[in-house]
Amino acid sequence: MGKVTAIASGKGGTGKTFVTAGLGIALAKRNKKVLLIDLNPYLRGIDLVLGTDNGLLFDMGDIFSGNCSPDKAIYQCEGIRGLSIMSASQNTNDNISSELMKSLMDVLRDEYDHILIDCHGCGKIFETAVQSSEQVIIVTDAEPLSVRCAEKTSRRLKEMGLNNNRLLINNFNEKKFFRFDYFQDIDEIIDKIGVRLLGMVPEDEEFAVALQRSSPFSVKTKAVYAFDRIAARLDGVDVSLFLE
Ligand SMILES: Nc1ncnc2c1ncn2[C@@H]1O[C@H](COP(=O)(O)OP(=O)(O)OP(=O)(O)O)[C@@H](O)[C@H]1O
Ligand SMILES: [Mg+2]
Repeated sequence: MGKVTAIASGKGGTGKTFVTAGLGIALAKRNKKVLLIDLNPYLRGIDLVLGTDNGLLFDMGDIFSGNCSPDKAIYQCEGIRGLSIMSASQNTNDNISSELMKSLMDVLRDEYDHILIDCHGCGKIFETAVQSSEQVIIVTDAEPLSVRCAEKTSRRLKEMGLNNNRLLINNFNEKKFFRFDYFQDIDEIIDKIGVRLLGMVPEDEEFAVALQRSSPFSVKTKAVYAFDRIAARLDGVDVSLFLE
């Protein structure tokens, strides 16, 4: 897989920010240099969950308006070495030009092992993010509405000629999955969305709370374990796709 990855979904609230933070931490633990880009104009969140919200002065809007160079809008996470963040502008509307975004990625690409973009599931900002990326991870949970929205996102990506996509099933709870019986099995979800599975991340309240408290770095929970395995897989290590 390539270097710049858009983390998208269909439906909102399926865990894009949770996954961007979790996967970013897992990749940094593997001694990778990682940049997380929060492409949620007005509503950034990555800075808060990674504890970098206090000193944030510049953002992508400042880069595009010539107020600062890209390095000034990049903030190193104090909780872990190798992990940095950049946020979309919180002052303007979501009108980020794809051309500007692509040229920014061209500048940053050589500096990092991985760049993860936390973005929306549809609309202009989604298209800007995916057009600037080498691959897209579609995040869904195992509920029918989320799966239907993910299916639409997958179709849109294919219409755009973007075929390097992977699926991440998040917030998975095996007991609920079989009790609710929305789907026969995981394969049914994968077949509906039509994208190869990258991995599964379990429901994990402890890690979710650690993110809300801006202190996810020393937590060792089942979602952290799942992210470690997905990060290893992204690094070409052969680990099983499914939760153990
Ligand atoms: N695996 C998980 N286990 C437990 N809670 C989770 C998990 N994934 C996400 N959550 C919780 O679900 C909520 C939504 O997650 P998150 O904010 O990451 O979604 P999102 O897709 O980024 O939402 P938005 O579309 O609003 O940007 C949060 O409260 C988060 O803590
Ligand atoms: Mg989010």
